[in-house]
Amino acid sequence: MKNFTSVHDVPQIDALVKKALAYKADRFKDKTLGAGKRIGLLFLNPSMRTRLSTQIAAQNLGMEPIVFNVGQEGWALEFEDEAIMSGSTVEHVKDAAPIMGNYFDILAIRTFPSLKNREDDYSELYIKQFIKYAGIPVVSLESATLHPLQSLTDIITITECLNNTTPPGRGEAGGKRPKIVLTWAPHVKPLPQCVANSFSQWVNAWGKADFVITHPEDYELDEQFTKGATITHNQDEALKDADFVYVKNWSTFKDYGKIYNNDPEWMLTNKKLATTNNAKVMHCLPVRRNVELSDEILDGPNSIVTQEASNRVWAAQAVLSEILASQK
Ligand code: CP
Repeated sequence: MKNFTSVHDVPQIDALVKKALAYKADRFKDKTLGAGKRIGLLFLNPSMRTRLSTQIAAQNLGMEPIVFNVGQEGWALEFEDEAIMSGSTVEHVKDAAPIMGNYFDILAIRTFPSLKNREDDYSELYIKQFIKYAGIPVVSLESATLHPLQSLTDIITITECLNNTTPPGRGEAGGKRPKIVLTWAPHVKPLPQCVANSFSQWVNAWGKADFVITHPEDYELDEQFTKGATITHNQDEALKDADFVYVKNWSTFKDYGKIYNNDPEWMLTNKKLATTNNAKVMHCLPVRRNVELSDEILDGPNSIVTQEASNRVWAAQAVLSEILASQK
């Protein structure tokens, strides 16, 4: 693996999942793989889980992680080629990235979208410019449109749940394909589409589930990620018999970055959950309690959000180990 910015960088999802679960069983089994190597973790935006889990993953492999909060502590970066830098940006990525390429062996970057201009955000200019100019492998810690480490974690967590079901439930052991539902939820702020795009992209590429996406009218996601899923505006219908319910807010894609509908009826409750197949409830976190997800769900037995967030370490460790192995 050279870079990790989407599911397209992964030749075999199940092999990567297996690797991650092997690290969960024995975190130090490759503790010298990254000896003498350094990873730079660049944050242009806030993070808790991604920042901590990726550092732990790197250390489990013997790497030295260095965190740089570019957004708060670094020079304001310019990403447009041929820019006349007479505004607020101080340093061009063309100058900064090759230096980082000499300091580090792997570069990992978090860059959120502006949610102002869809074409700009969906061009993924920031991460592409780092790939172009750094000259070392680049890992996405969430980009303008995708969050692949989160989605790999989500597939790991779903696989783990399916493997641990006794008697065998849905999935390979049980024969029947699990039903996975991605449901939109209300929020007070317009949020990126990254997690929803990425989850859709990975579940579709994984191909081992019946995948349903439900959201209010006007919240259609980019078809390049959702194609293959069943899409409905009827949340009650979508939830019926679901094995996994992934809850997430996103802002509008077509009339970009807006909130059209904030109907609290879309928040998942125990009453709605009762129509599912005792579904496990997932969310990438952070979550606004009693806006996006109810206390009764988050504190109830069906929530696997802590298991999910804890698995971020093993997803990152599997990805870093693949990149390190390709550098040998
Ligand atoms: N899920 C996730 O990416 O969390 P953080 O924003 O805290 O890293």
